[in-house]
Amino acid sequence: MSWREDAKHRASVEAARLVEDDQIVGLGSGSTMYYLIEELGRRIREEELRICCIPTSKQTESQARKHKIKLTTLDKHPQIDIAIDGADQVDSNLNLIKGKGGALTREKIVDSIARFLIIVVDETKLTDHLGLMQPVPIEVMPFALKPVMNRIKKMGGEPVIRFATKTASPSSTEQYFTTDNGNIIIDAEFGTIKAPKKMEMELKMIPGVIENGLFVNMAHRVYVGMKSGAIKTVNKEEAFLQ
Ligand code: 5RP
Repeated sequence: MSWREDAKHRASVEAARLVEDDQIVGLGSGSTMYYLIEELGRRIREEELRICCIPTSKQTESQARKHKIKLTTLDKHPQIDIAIDGADQVDSNLNLIKGKGGALTREKIVDSIARFLIIVVDETKLTDHLGLMQPVPIEVMPFALKPVMNRIKKMGGEPVIRFATKTASPSSTEQYFTTDNGNIIIDAEFGTIKAPKKMEMELKMIPGVIENGLFVNMAHRVYVGMKSGAIKTVNKEEAFLQ
């Protein structure tokens, strides 16, 4: 196992400890969440926890089902005790870029209503400022693709349509990557993002944009798996004091 996989694994095990009996738990998506779900599955079996989870993607749902993790919906449980998720970039204020896996819209819905949002990353995801070497994923209704691309260019961004990999599901339209919601992803390079909240709102206002991958002022705590083997924990309050 590479040091990054090991770091993601260890940080996920640490984060999974926060889940308590009888809680409603939001489950993020991505390769880090794989380790989290494995650990949660183990805890549920061994400790007989009675938790209910809300998955943010079909992939997460399928892994949770393999572990017989009880699933629920936002209709039944519109409030979430704790959500645990990965991220593509984390800045010093715990603002995030998410969506490399394409699950950003459901992730933002679930993460935004969690009383406690925990993010798990390895140390390569840490940055002083969001956007450097990291595009912002934007979920777009296929009908609005070209006008949305034009608006992003006007904002100073460089939009690139995400294509499906060869192994992606055949439901992908014209080889574009298709989200679980049937939409397209644009990855937009903006360079360093000086005002993430302003950009999040601007992107949100473009007709045809379903959601964007800027998650500002949402995370309460980040577990960082370090190359050294340590796990660093950063809380929101501490982050603002830096
Ligand atoms: C999916 C996400 C993921 O949480 C993010 O891409 C991190 O993934 P990984 O743990 O594989 O690095 O936002 O939409």
